[in-house]
Amino acid sequence: MAPSVLLFGLLAIACSLASASDHSPLQDFCVADATSPVLVNGLVCKDPKLVKADDFFFKGLHLAGNTSNAVGSRVTPVNVAQIPGLNTLGISLVRIDYAPWGINPPHTHPRATEILTVVEGLLEVGFVTSNPENHLITKVLQKGDVFVFPVGLVHFQRNVGYCNTVAIAALNSQNPGVITIANTVFGSKPDISSDLLAKAFQVDKNIVYKIQSHF
Ligand SMILES: *[C@@H]1O[C@H](CO)[C@@H](O)[C@H](O)[C@H]1NC(C)=O
Repeated sequence: MAPSVLLFGLLAIACSLASASDHSPLQDFCVADATSPVLVNGLVCKDPKLVKADDFFFKGLHLAGNTSNAVGSRVTPVNVAQIPGLNTLGISLVRIDYAPWGINPPHTHPRATEILTVVEGLLEVGFVTSNPENHLITKVLQKGDVFVFPVGLVHFQRNVGYCNTVAIAALNSQNPGVITIANTVFGSKPDISSDLLAKAFQVDKNIVYKIQSHF
């Protein structure tokens, strides 16, 4: 292979890797200015002279989330929306509470890989590789175990015990985003056509209507 072709290939790989996560900061910090009307990729920095400790602070992650809902889990996010000082830093955290047999339904984070540890209880975790293999990678985690969900892949968790489960997870984006499969496919506004979904899922249209009615 000609050296220039090789160099171009390496550059292309480097560029695609760089675009898979948040950009690197160009200053010590850029605390988000919630009052700015300016729209940029990320959030506008407030005057560094006005920055205070509370801009880098969040209180309350010891508190259990309310899991009384249809899926039996609750995510408490700690990202740039809660800590303005996370702006441009490419990192965030969540606490996830699971009632017995509660699930965190299949979803994906468009901008982050996730690394999760179980603080309390038992947790079945899994992700599925992309087409055409669609290989399910799954494991049951105990307290202290750590598991990784690679960026973009559909993943889920389920409490497989009769006690509450608590997990803490870090994600390499200030704003990882969440795309929950059921909600996006069956709960979009306006609806995706039921004909299209019936064909996509190879089921009767009435089944599509029934699922849509829950989202
Ligand atoms: C938890 O959420 C349920 C359903 O929204 C609500 O009825 C209940 O009061 C909440 N519990 C607490 C402790 O906030």
